[in-house]
Amino acid sequence: MNKAIYPGSFDPITFGHLDIIERCSKIYDQLIVGVIKDNNNKNFLFDEFQRKNMIENLVTKFSNVEVRVFDSLLVDFAVKEKSKIIIRGLRALSDFEYEFQMALMNRKLNDNISTLFMMPHEKFTHISSSLLKEVIALGGDVSEYAPEFIIKKVKNKL
Ligand code: COA
Repeated sequence: MNKAIYPGSFDPITFGHLDIIERCSKIYDQLIVGVIKDNNNKNFLFDEFQRKNMIENLVTKFSNVEVRVFDSLLVDFAVKEKSKIIIRGLRALSDFEYEFQMALMNRKLNDNISTLFMMPHEKFTHISSSLLKEVIALGGDVSEYAPEFIIKKVKNKL
């Protein structure tokens, strides 16, 4: 089975992430969306179960997509899921250096697993979860970038 994992923070998921999920669901037999539990560099607005639930609500239409929380090295999560493919989205050149470092470190940690990059639709290349939260906090319209129920959840949290 051709199985890939798509890991991330998803705090919260946006249409940009969903765009990648949809593209992958058409290419792979199975896609596991991996929600990282903690990240020392980030203070999450939503806990891992809230982030997972939000994604699950949005991927019900894709029968080959599942969502799991993980709390380990990414390559170990891939091994656990029996996947040799990590998908990362590349939005702009600015993503490249960070993604390049991660991909090579992950390859060093486990050379059986490859990172593949995918570009989301260009209308989502300038957004991030942080930017979304910032604009919502200041009362801006982000309806083009995330589903209404996600925007409401962010508003409630803030
Ligand atoms: N649309 C919109 N935004 C996108 C996007 C897309 N298609 N792709 C990425 N982004 C944004 C995210 O919203 C996020 O924004 P934020 O920083 O404002 O929250 C940002 O790009 C990057 O986040 P993400 O893709 O979630 O990655 P991350 O940097 O938070 O890392 C893991 C997440 C899970 C990949 C990483 O923490 C990890 O591998 N952890 C496991 C531990 C490990 O193995 N470490 C060693 C790695 S070498």
